[in-house]
Amino acid sequence: MIFFKNKHILVVVTGGIAAYKSAILVRSLIKKGGNVRVAMTKSAENFVTPLTFSTLTKHTVLTDIFKANDGSVDHVAWARWADFIFVVPATANFVAKMAHGIADDTASTLLLASPAEKVIAPSMNDQMWNNPATVRNIKQLDTDGILIIEPTTGFLAEGYDGKGRLPESNDILEQAQIRLLAKNGKLKNKNVLITAGGTKEALDPLRYITNRSSGKMGYALAQAAVEAGAVVTLISTVERRLPFGSKLIKVTDAREMLDTVLEHFDKTDIFISAAAVSDFRPAKQSNQKIKKTGNQGLKVELVQNPDILATVGAKKTGQFVVGFAAETENIVEYAKNKLVKKHADMIVANEVGHPDSGFNVDNNRVIIFRPKQAQKEFPLQSKIDTARSIIEEIIKSVFE
Ligand SMILES: Cc1cc2nc3c(=O)[nH]c(=O)nc-3n(C[C@H](O)[C@H](O)[C@H](O)COP(=O)(O)O)c2cc1C
Repeated sequence: MIFFKNKHILVVVTGGIAAYKSAILVRSLIKKGGNVRVAMTKSAENFVTPLTFSTLTKHTVLTDIFKANDGSVDHVAWARWADFIFVVPATANFVAKMAHGIADDTASTLLLASPAEKVIAPSMNDQMWNNPATVRNIKQLDTDGILIIEPTTGFLAEGYDGKGRLPESNDILEQAQIRLLAKNGKLKNKNVLITAGGTKEALDPLRYITNRSSGKMGYALAQAAVEAGAVVTLISTVERRLPFGSKLIKVTDAREMLDTVLEHFDKTDIFISAAAVSDFRPAKQSNQKIKKTGNQGLKVELVQNPDILATVGAKKTGQFVVGFAAETENIVEYAKNKLVKKHADMIVANEVGHPDSGFNVDNNRVIIFRPKQAQKEFPLQSKIDTARSIIEEIIKSVFE
């Protein structure tokens, strides 16, 4: 996560029971290369001490603007210094003050005086969270452009399950990064449909034919598209950690994947076929488990599956269609062929079968092909960086 690197980040800690967790958030931000300072409300000092944060940040913690009257701490300068302000946790009281522009202490004054991008993570008991006053205040902050990381449902300090828990620090930062990037993303309001994972072609109720695809590339593309502001639907055979805000439709085999793609294709602006669709499936699917045959073995007849990319390529009415070519040899030739034969607007070719790139690993090395354009090669990168490069190239093709 390079997003927060070298950024000026002010963390405001308010007086909730989850205040101790903000120390972990501060540490994570520092680890990610952020330049972090902390301000606290009076109530927050009942839960954690400024010493914790001054030790972590190696910086004075701003608690009382009236006490810091020696000129060493200037709250207006702090408000201007910040690129981002995180309020973690945000109490119901602090949310109410922000919603009404109240500046009656150091932390709320900083918030009001700062042009920085603001992220709040409210945390409170479920009664406070569901109180109509809090609901109103949260709505107001959302309208004001404050990024709200909603609390999760789980075990509350009160000793029962409810909505109000502060999400884990990494989840807060990941969600904040994706949503902050998406705010100014070039794919805002564009519908992006992505397929991911290897299809599973059933032999009987227990067994299937599949391939080594892990779905990692498709999920990385979903994240990169969300970061670019898109509304993302992922059609996948595998369940992984879903990028914030995207929607998953789980499918199993090639025919089900095709039907689901076609259901959504009319409303799609960009289609990316990153799934490893089995070329073949068993001609017959047994209703019962296939039993051992002694020494006779088992012959399985395979028939060809529908070609999702070609079907969609033939149907497109303005959609930008991207296919993947995962090959073990002659990738340039195969990729160029695929571009023409399947009416694709882009083919992303990758050589699979290498230990460091391709299927079921975390890195990839791709070459991008477009009609009437020179091919573009990318170095070995993590799958998320590869995905960001691909989305960037798609944006260039769609908008330039
Ligand atoms: C033990 C204890 C735990 C509290 N936990 C929360 C909490 O999780 N969320 C919340 O909104 N308020 C909580 N409160 C109430 C706030 O501390 C109180 O509303 C306070 O005025 C908030 O001040 P601040 O917003 O200036 O930090 C708690 C109070 C106590 C005594």
